Amino acid sequence: MQQGMHPDLVRVVFTKEEIAVVVERIGRQISADYAGQKLLLVAVLKGAFVFMADLLRYIEGSVEVDFMAVSSYGAEAKSSGVVRIIKDLENSIEDRHVLIVEDILDSGLTLTYLLKNLRSRNPLSVEIATLLYKEGKQDVAIDCKYIGLACPNEFVVGYGLDYAERYRELPYIAVLKPSVYSA
Ligand code: IMP
Ligand code: MG
Repeated sequence: MQQGMHPDLVRVVFTKEEIAVVVERIGRQISADYAGQKLLLVAVLKGAFVFMADLLRYIEGSVEVDFMAVSSYGAEAKSSGVVRIIKDLENSIEDRHVLIVEDILDSGLTLTYLLKNLRSRNPLSVEIATLLYKEGKQDVAIDCKYIGLACPNEFVVGYGLDYAERYRELPYIAVLKPSVYSA
């Protein structure tokens, strides 16, 4: 076991330091791309709240935040393919530049649904920033403007990502022990 690692974990995939570098890079890129424009960041709850909070602090310029919650996997470690809005945006996004902030792109079902839904509300633009993406797992092609790190095709937790609502507090991203699923 790696030193200081939670006992339910197999290995750390991305350290706190590695994540910080990538978040800063994306934040600076967003600042440059949206310079002189008003940007609305929309985090997909709950997983993206940690990424959103860190990312926000690297964005210079006019930026506002809002949140959406959609149904997720529940306690299951695989995609159900069912997407349902649990919490909608507080304000209209008409004539606004919107950037969806996601923790992880897996099957892509969640983001496909959100893109379509938000684009139907007459925004100026809707783009995606995802911290992680699982290579080759997408059922549908999705164009993400900002991508952080390629993640192995294993179930990961930490830095906002959960398994059955646990492990979100970990400052790093790690693979969960299979024994935790079957417990
Ligand atoms: P998708 O719709 O299959 O792309 O799944 C996206 C959502 O599933 C993410 O926002 C996460 O909440 C959740 N998810 C997918 N893979 C993982 C994982 O490895 N760990 C934790 N949550 C995950
Ligand atoms: Mg989740």
